[in-house]
Amino acid sequence: MAKQAKKRATRKTAARRPRQAPKMLSDLFLETLKDIYFAENKILKTLPKMAKAAHSKQLAAAFNKHLRETQGQVKRLEQIFRMLGKPARGKPCEAINGITDEGAEIMKDFKGAPALDAGLLAAAQAVEHYEISRYGTLRTWAEELGMADAARLLQATLDEEEATDHALSELATSVINLEAEQEMREAA
Ligand SMILES: [Fe+2]
Repeated sequence: MAKQAKKRATRKTAARRPRQAPKMLSDLFLETLKDIYFAENKILKTLPKMAKAAHSKQLAAAFNKHLRETQGQVKRLEQIFRMLGKPARGKPCEAINGITDEGAEIMKDFKGAPALDAGLLAAAQAVEHYEISRYGTLRTWAEELGMADAARLLQATLDEEEATDHALSELATSVINLEAEQEMREAA
């Protein structure tokens, strides 16, 4: 095909293609909802493994408590999907996959080691911080989109994530002290 004719044909095809609607904040809200829905379901699978691996009973209890909360958080997200008239569907989120992969690596590399709990705590807090960031954004967008009920549900989850983060921070001090004592005993 001559160069000019080829150009004309390309122009014709492009003209026939329906123009895509501009992406709005509501589209971004739905995409991010799918992202966090995927993340919560991934966390549901990860938390029991972390609870099982933890040496500290308190840490295992904190993971189990958050597992129950996470089940409720998934239900809240499903409620929001229903409000939007959309099916509850996750979209693979590389960020949460990366954070949970790191956690899995710690569980493998530090199995039976005194520093395991400190590593588990750090991994769990990385997850919480990711979720806090996402839920803060989603809550603000829901408010901007005039979705007061969705904003309330997202705020309820955000409160739980923040409370979990604080509880883990407090546990970190006792867990790390305990490990330091154990290391000193082993060194003596
Ligand atoms: Fe969560």
